[in-house]
Amino acid sequence: MRQSIVILAAGQGRRMKSGTPKVLHPLGGRPMVSYAIAAARALCDTPPVLVVGHGMEALQETAGDSVRYVRQAERLGTGHAVLQARPLLEGAADEVVVIYADMPLLTAETLERVGAARRQAAAALAFLTVVVDDPRGFGRVVRRPDNSVQQIVEEADATAEQKAICELNAGVYTFDAAWLWPHLADLPRHANGEYYLTDTVEIAVQQGQPIATVTAGDPAEVLGVNTRVHLAEAEAILRRRINRRWMEAGVTLRDPETTYIEPGVAIGQDTVIEPGTHLRGSTTIGARCLIGPHSLIVDSVIGDECRVLASVVEQAVMEAGSDVGPFSHLRRGARLEAGAHVGNFGEVKNATLGAGSKMGHFSYLGDAEVEAGVNIGAGTVTCNYDGKDKHQTYIEEDAFIGSGTMLVAPVRVGKGATTGAGAVVTHDVPAGAVVYGVPARGKEAAD
Ligand code: UD1
Ligand code: MG
Repeated sequence: MRQSIVILAAGQGRRMKSGTPKVLHPLGGRPMVSYAIAAARALCDTPPVLVVGHGMEALQETAGDSVRYVRQAERLGTGHAVLQARPLLEGAADEVVVIYADMPLLTAETLERVGAARRQAAAALAFLTVVVDDPRGFGRVVRRPDNSVQQIVEEADATAEQKAICELNAGVYTFDAAWLWPHLADLPRHANGEYYLTDTVEIAVQQGQPIATVTAGDPAEVLGVNTRVHLAEAEAILRRRINRRWMEAGVTLRDPETTYIEPGVAIGQDTVIEPGTHLRGSTTIGARCLIGPHSLIVDSVIGDECRVLASVVEQAVMEAGSDVGPFSHLRRGARLEAGAHVGNFGEVKNATLGAGSKMGHFSYLGDAEVEAGVNIGAGTVTCNYDGKDKHQTYIEEDAFIGSGTMLVAPVRVGKGATTGAGAVVTHDVPAGAVVYGVPARGKEAAD
């Protein structure tokens, strides 16, 4: 069976009050539309068809080749929106699945259940319903005494009695494609100018076609995001889902309510995440780490048994047993090798701190390679920028860099060499040498 998925995204999203198209607003660090696309891709390999109106170019920039695009020039309702996909899909798919780009919490499993229900009942269509205590907004599912579906009535058209129905149409459908296309082209136009996809239900009923429904286990799954308040609600639900998954996988979250883990993050067993911690992008964290409180880690790789305390780590690598913080910043290209230590008020950028090397107190390491066993004294700075270009600093194994040393790059400090406190090192220091002063010189030269 050939399936194709249509994702409706032609709404303007006016209620967001934003210059950015609604479905491009980030949720868990990713554009909202990416969740519908991911659910679609989990269901089947064929790239889904995205129906776009307003903001087509911006959407294309974000979603790229992962979807095919059709434009709905005029917003003439959900039935009209799906019809725009007909030229792409007619004859190419046996089953058409319809979802919304602004329903980011829908899971592929639920989508699969809707399709399975339709196939099992050999129905023209199946749709997802949700049962709530306090029905508002969504179309109501009207059933006959034998419990079969009679119609979906929009809230605006519902009688008082129908308004009290607690079973709602979520807006997720699967259709027998051969049945769908001719009927979609024949939908009646409503007084508000729209063609309703929901009218396909009435058509099927009139024809005596079976209709299948599936009820969402969790109403949160069908939360539609129309405002920034909804966006925050969706974010909170997503966060709880992700946090629960990590706790179930053996990660301790001291306070899940203040732990922010994006969907692309991976965490090893027995790691403890303290409150106020944000793990973003493609970050991976090893086992038995202690992260936080109050840390931000973005697109970084953290090995086993690392410690990050109240620090910011971005596009950096920390090998096993290394630690950073409090109040330090590992920036793009920073690498702490096994057991390396960055204490407080340190900054490392595009630099490697070798295995077991230590930089305990307010220092800056930029564009540098520091080998193993080096001690970087308090207040050391690699002067890597001359106002035009960046230059490299090399510090070889077991060197001892005295407090307040200025390393004016390009410069190399040899193996086992020592710089005195306050030295301004403007020339390479030979292995084993001791230099001090401004500019720094060796012992003999000074004598
Ligand atoms: C629709 C259903 C309603 C259901 C509700 C669930 C119809 C007539 N009604 O309501 O029964 O309870 O969804 O959310 O279908 N869109 C387009 N082009 C259009 C119109 C809409 O792409 O011309 C997209 C929107 O971007 C959105 C989705 O379709 O993603 C739903 O549109 P919306 O206006 O929110 O739904 P309703 O029509 O109010
Ligand atoms: Mg509408």
